[in-house]
Amino acid sequence: MFITFEGIDGCGKSTQLILLKETLEQKGFKVITLREPGGTQLSEQIRDILLSNKSQINDISELLLFQAARANLVENIIKPALENDIFVLCDRFYDSTTAYQGYGRMIDLDIVKTCNIIAVNGLKPDLTFYLKLPLDVAKERSHKRDLDRIENAGDSFYKRVLLGYELIAREEPERIKIICSNGTIENTKNEILKNIPILNQ
Ligand SMILES: Nc1ncnc2c1ncn2[C@@H]1O[C@H](COP(=O)(O)OP(=O)(O)OP(=O)(O)O)[C@@H](O)[C@H]1O
Ligand SMILES: [Mg+2]
Repeated sequence: MFITFEGIDGCGKSTQLILLKETLEQKGFKVITLREPGGTQLSEQIRDILLSNKSQINDISELLLFQAARANLVENIIKPALENDIFVLCDRFYDSTTAYQGYGRMIDLDIVKTCNIIAVNGLKPDLTFYLKLPLDVAKERSHKRDLDRIENAGDSFYKRVLLGYELIAREEPERIKIICSNGTIENTKNEILKNIPILNQ
């Protein structure tokens, strides 16, 4: 099963991904955790370029670099793991590209979605958790000193990203579960667990 976590920076993706990994492993499942962009040597190198404040990247280059990193991760890690019945938990996937490069950067949504399709070559998450949190709460939670290149895009960018996530989630309610991330870590975890079919049989 392929599960992805989505939402703005500081919404709790990494926290919840680890908690779900622990729960699944306690039940005897094999699990790998990944992050996007990243997960292979090439994809981590692309991540460094994308997040560095020294990089001067136009919007289309940014879109294509994310997709290059994704294509490499999908073919080398995700698809082989799924073929071996390993749970794959991924911190961000193509919904992030739709939200950030589509709604945030305002690249034509059809172009973004076509690029997503090319990069994943038929792969789709079975389940996606969109951890919904207001911008001000997310900012308070992430105690980061140095913001990366994308985090430096500003509030109006992030407001578009949040609206984008809402619209993306509404388009595919079966796959994308909207989880309120404004409560405690435990509450959010329990909401997520309720939505994992194999844990509720
Ligand atoms: N429900 C919660 N209540 C309070 N604090 C939380 C909650 N969930 C996570 N946190 C804290 O908020 C901070 C951000 O969480 P986390 O790193 O999981 O977010 P993220 O979505 O992975 O962010 P990023 O996109 O920047 O990696 C962490 O310090 C984490 O411990
Ligand atoms: Mg994180």
